[in-house]
Amino acid sequence: MKIISVVGARPQFIKAAMVSRSLRPRCQEILVHTGQHYDENMSQVFFDELELPEPDIYLGVGSGSHAVQTARMMTGIEEILLKESPDWLVVYGDTNTTLAGALAASKLQVPIAHVEAGLRSFQRAMPEEVNRVLVDHISDALFCPTQPSVDNLSREGITRGVYIVGDVMADALQYFIRLAPQKTDILSDLGLEAHCYALATVHRAANTDDPARLKAILKAFEQMNLPVVFPVHPRTRKVIHDLGWKANRNVRLIEPVGYLEMLLLEANADCILTDSGGVQKEAYWVGVRCITLRDETEWVETVALGWNRLVGADTTAIVEAVHHWRPTAPRLPIYGDGHSAEMISDILLNQP
Ligand code: UD1
Ligand code: UDP
Repeated sequence: MKIISVVGARPQFIKAAMVSRSLRPRCQEILVHTGQHYDENMSQVFFDELELPEPDIYLGVGSGSHAVQTARMMTGIEEILLKESPDWLVVYGDTNTTLAGALAASKLQVPIAHVEAGLRSFQRAMPEEVNRVLVDHISDALFCPTQPSVDNLSREGITRGVYIVGDVMADALQYFIRLAPQKTDILSDLGLEAHCYALATVHRAANTDDPARLKAILKAFEQMNLPVVFPVHPRTRKVIHDLGWKANRNVRLIEPVGYLEMLLLEANADCILTDSGGVQKEAYWVGVRCITLRDETEWVETVALGWNRLVGADTTAIVEAVHHWRPTAPRLPIYGDGHSAEMISDILLNQP
């Protein structure tokens, strides 16, 4: 069996690392990197740290408007699909890379497997929501992390080829968190004391493309009674630069870090402030309270179980949550048992 996996953005390298590890010994996998993310610390570091095989094909698409970026990816992926005639195309999550891969495959009637299917924010203004809805509707195998994601699909009339497999990011965390302390010493490199800092990430368009929201978030970081370590996504760095914002002494801007460094920063934080999807889940898994800088989340279980609080971009609400809110609920196991990648590859390889 021949499988083409398409990746391009940071979280996809992490997800694909686990699935690829499970697929490679059992079939021919061709890994295509669209080049959506290309900085060393947004791409290559993950191949190095996660033992992910180097891409077989690198499209080098780079940044651009949504249409330009997606169209360039589709053209490149179409050529590969025509040449390789794979049995499956596998895409991850909800980025433009996901959409481009799925659309190109759909037009050529190549079966599509969508890992992380059925997630919904119910906000069509969010580019990722459009991507994930469209990809789910043209996918043949839909790998959902939870029953609510299956229910979301069912409400849209998608019931065939739907599987609950847990979350491949849980597989990745379980596997790599044990290795991380042997490979990196990021806390002492940054002079941080465990549980005495907040970790922040911000990159969602709703926050970065609205100066009022971004300024309100940054103001909250400055007002906290904890130092804030903030690995800055390149998209956000550009906006911060354009705003002319200079961090006060409480906020430490650093370059994006590798996955192993990030796991250690997360696990040792007092709290995590984020608008990332992946980071919300990781906060739950490592048992650190998460304060989400959004008005809604796809990862509703983390909120329902009392470990994630949605505060939007409201300075007072963010600071109040950091200073006064602590989860008390037990952490129930959610998003699978760390064997999602195996389940996905078993299902793909056993299809007629
Ligand atoms: C993309 C995904 C988002 C995902 C995120 C993961 C879409 C629509 N969005 O958002 O769902 O959560 O990746 O991090 O696909 N840039 C660089 N260097 C890089 C990559 C990006 O400088 O290596 C800058 C460029 O100015 C670029 C901007 O960041 O225009 C945004 O990058 P892009 O890939 O379009 O979207 P993300 O915000 O990264
Ligand atoms: N991540 C990382 N380094 C960073 C920031 C995030 O390795 O500096 C990891 C993080 O641990 C998680 C993934 O990147 O596994 C999340 O990606 P991101 O926040 O870019 O995208 P999202 O999950 O929101 O789509």
